[in-house]
Amino acid sequence: MASLSGEVGGIQMANPVLLAAGILGTTGASLKRAARAGAGGVVTKSVGSIPRDGHRGPTVVQVEGGLLNAMGLPNPSYTNFQEEIDIGREGGAPVVASIFGSGPQEFEEVAEGLDADGFELNLSCPHAERYGAEIGCEACKVEAITRAVKGSVSVPVWVKLTPNVADVIGLGLAAQRGGADAVVAINTLKAMAIDVESGRPILGNRFGGLSGPAIKPVAMRCVFDLASALEIPVIGVGGVASWQDAAEMIMAGAAGVQVGTALGRAEGYGIFRSISEGLSNYLDRKGMALAELKGLARRFS
Ligand code: FUM
Repeated sequence: MASLSGEVGGIQMANPVLLAAGILGTTGASLKRAARAGAGGVVTKSVGSIPRDGHRGPTVVQVEGGLLNAMGLPNPSYTNFQEEIDIGREGGAPVVASIFGSGPQEFEEVAEGLDADGFELNLSCPHAERYGAEIGCEACKVEAITRAVKGSVSVPVWVKLTPNVADVIGLGLAAQRGGADAVVAINTLKAMAIDVESGRPILGNRFGGLSGPAIKPVAMRCVFDLASALEIPVIGVGGVASWQDAAEMIMAGAAGVQVGTALGRAEGYGIFRSISEGLSNYLDRKGMALAELKGLARRFS
């Protein structure tokens, strides 16, 4: 079987198929379960400096092509989260803590308060006032926040980017200037759904983030653009539901892929192993190494 092990964003992993932030990453038990099910690495639900209940419901609705969510960054705060990371680590895969804040100081406080194998900076949630994309759409803030966290921890720092901008490359370059070890592309697309009978927006927050198959082509384009422009690795996320999706993302230039919304499908946690095995079989069939797949599509540009 072709080997899938290697570094993803500065972290050694058995394979490049990771659990994405937000999905099942609120408890150590689910992080551990994803790792034991074959995820090469697991990313937690985003954690901030103070406990938050999140937005009022409904917070999730199924729409054509995926899911729309506006959870509102609910979390128990970093002071109540270390145990979940420690339990998650028992699964045997690296645990990356997704963290958020309103500026460099708050990000630094959260990162310094957690012991994780890496940090993923959420500069991209499309529906939280003062957080996420509200600050992550400004290159100077992305750079300053990345630099602050990089200066305060000794593990790799990834920056999760928003696609809800005209120039995602500009944000990627800002993260790179700030010292990021990788960028993660993409977070959800800002979107909404309306109940036709009442005329009411369905989500309690009115707007939310679209994930799932509908956003895969957007994610693919962002990964392709970023991988062409940056020197640091790009980790792809957005609509990955099969080994073919993962292969496509890697061909666009991704060093690894994250799986989120697809975990809601019937195979559940089994998706990690089925993607890895599918990728490995594909490489065997083609007589290729994983490194040869990476960025393959860029040869045709
Ligand atoms: O609302 C949420 O907790 C989602 C965060 C995100 O999309 O980054």
